[in-house]
Amino acid sequence: MSPLSTVILGTGSYAPGRILSNAELSQTVDTSDEWIRTRSGIRERRIAAPGEATSDMGVHAARRALADAGLQPADIDLLIVATITPDMPMPATACIIQQKLGVPTNAACFDLNAACTGFLYALDTACAMLGSGRYRHALVIGVEKLSTIVDWKDRTTCVLFGDGAGAVVVGKSPVPGLGLIGTKLGALGDSVDLLCIPGGGSNAPATAASIAAGSHFLKMKGKEVFKLAVRVMDEAARDILEQHHLRADQISLVIPHQANLRIIEAISAYLELPLERFFVNVDRYGNTSAASIPLALDEARRTGRIKSGDLTLLVAFGAGLTYGSALIRW
Ligand code: ACO
Repeated sequence: MSPLSTVILGTGSYAPGRILSNAELSQTVDTSDEWIRTRSGIRERRIAAPGEATSDMGVHAARRALADAGLQPADIDLLIVATITPDMPMPATACIIQQKLGVPTNAACFDLNAACTGFLYALDTACAMLGSGRYRHALVIGVEKLSTIVDWKDRTTCVLFGDGAGAVVVGKSPVPGLGLIGTKLGALGDSVDLLCIPGGGSNAPATAASIAAGSHFLKMKGKEVFKLAVRVMDEAARDILEQHHLRADQISLVIPHQANLRIIEAISAYLELPLERFFVNVDRYGNTSAASIPLALDEARRTGRIKSGDLTLLVAFGAGLTYGSALIRW
């Protein structure tokens, strides 16, 4: 008997209702719509309501993915949440979502932190666990409330990020050659300081002084991150194509991590694949880290950009510096 394929059975996403435009942002920080648009391609981002936790956004996206898959929470036996903005440091947001959604108590539930590459790491983990034969249906959620870790006085970072959620339900299919046909993950641990939140962990626990110094906010060396992001995303895309004996022009749609339109344009040029083959929604959401790819994937499916038989390439980079790519046949 041929091995079962690991397939995406349903997708869902959620974005909070509050839209924060560049024009509005430029009233509170020294920036402009023109600067933000030309440097990043971002026009607006979504901001979660004060009482709306990461888990709440994750639940909305998960319900939509389950409905799309025609499954119930009771069918899920593996729940992975990719996030850098959990509801609290412990327990895992996956356990909070399990309870809110009504996923059975015999399901394995855990969080995974690979920053903006988190969804690809979680998808690969889910596929490997499903491949063990011990799980039937996985719910993989990428969700972030980055508005809580951004320093709204720091114009070099606050203009780039937003809140949102995306989810997929993963299961098995007897049809060979469908679904997740390959992944490539990696990390450059020598680049930790390019993108980090220095305060609040075991290395520098929270104190009144650390809070006053803003050590609990995201810090980024933007220029260095930009250069490395282009390099590792290009490599991650090329490696996986080579591994599967594919050419770039055989990809119907690339869904890149939505950090900056200029990074996406650079990857498009390096792969010699027109920008029209790239899904872009960074203009409407900004960078939503682990939520970015599943949110884009859901929008791409719902707007008819992915059809049966298509080959989709997902590619991302994030703090760590982590990177990854995945190929999906629909
Ligand atoms: N508004 C106006 N001016 C600004 C702003 C702003 N929001 N931010 C910076 N500037 C100024 C700078 O102070 C600088 O002024 P100076 O020349 O007088 O010193 C000038 O604009 C140019 O700044 P640069 O940093 O050179 O601008 P650059 O073209 O590199 O663009 C950006 C900055 C958009 C941050 C870019 O470097 C970038 O996108 N980097 C990658 C960021 C990224 O993708 N992060 C991913 C995070 S992933 C994760 O895991 C969370």
